[in-house]
Amino acid sequence: MSPTSAPADPRKRLEGLLPDVEIAALAPLIEDIDEWKRRRNAVVLAHNYMTPDIYHGVADLRGDSLALARMAVEAEADVIVMAGVHFMAETAKIVNPAKTVLIPDTDAGCSLADAITGADVRLLKERYPGVPVVTYVNTSADVKAESDICCTSGNALQVVESLGVDRVIFLPDQYLGMWVASQTDIDVILYEGSCMVHERFTGDELRGYRALKPGVQIIAHPECPPDVLAEADFVGSTAGMIRWVQTERPKSVVMVTECSMADNVALESPDTEFVRPCNLCPHMKRITLEGIRDSLRDMRHEVVIPPDVADRARHAVERMLEVRI
Ligand code: 13P
Ligand code: SF4
Repeated sequence: MSPTSAPADPRKRLEGLLPDVEIAALAPLIEDIDEWKRRRNAVVLAHNYMTPDIYHGVADLRGDSLALARMAVEAEADVIVMAGVHFMAETAKIVNPAKTVLIPDTDAGCSLADAITGADVRLLKERYPGVPVVTYVNTSADVKAESDICCTSGNALQVVESLGVDRVIFLPDQYLGMWVASQTDIDVILYEGSCMVHERFTGDELRGYRALKPGVQIIAHPECPPDVLAEADFVGSTAGMIRWVQTERPKSVVMVTECSMADNVALESPDTEFVRPCNLCPHMKRITLEGIRDSLRDMRHEVVIPPDVADRARHAVERMLEVRI
């Protein structure tokens, strides 16, 4: 894997995205990050929910959770800085334990990861002996270690169907689980977790957008509740939603997901009007340019996972990466 060839001048990377005065103010900080990346032989992997200054200004590679996990496997740099939330950094460490993986803010968590512990999974396995556990990657390493296989929003259906069984336990996102259940004959046992960002959207809100803007296309992340997904013209992971906009080139679109997605995609899709409902993920927003600079300068905060937990979690993540989509 090699870093993408972003323009050398940080001002050019952000041209047209942010006001000129803001770009001028950010440029020295971005140059500083470029310099620290060189010194540390580091790459910055960024999730699609990062703000445009990070996404376009300092990320070497960008993607959804599945792409970030694959990028981490292939990373050649000595240091990976995860511009995303904690479970994404843990996943990078799990798949590439030889690397130093840094997360700029240890409080960048996830309401789904907080919803379940390894002990909860052990209880479920006692309750449903022999039923395989499919675990969304939005979980801690402890939870992954108790699981048979992981999945992301980009491959959940294919992962569930890859097992060749008639029943699975699906953790912890009830809405992603319901979405998978609606697409397959396999019996899906659900858990009660949800994403604090996506659970706030409602079908009524989406019908309101259609009434306001006839012809608008609505695309939604599968962490949304069923009444929201029922209104959507397309359902997919963050990367799937970006691809959909770039391929379908709708006249106007609502991306029913975290706010920064539309900001990041708008520049590359100038012919599309983005109607922007704004639900922020407070965890993703803890990652800032200053935090990334400090992380590289001070080599903090290093992700450390007990080897026995990492080994068991790796089995579940690698098994997922083998599933073709
Ligand atoms: P994606 O894998 O679709 O990018 O989703 C991750 C996430 O946290 C969505 O809220
Ligand atoms: Fe977790 Fe939801 Fe934030 Fe994604 S958007 S990191 S699922 S809280």
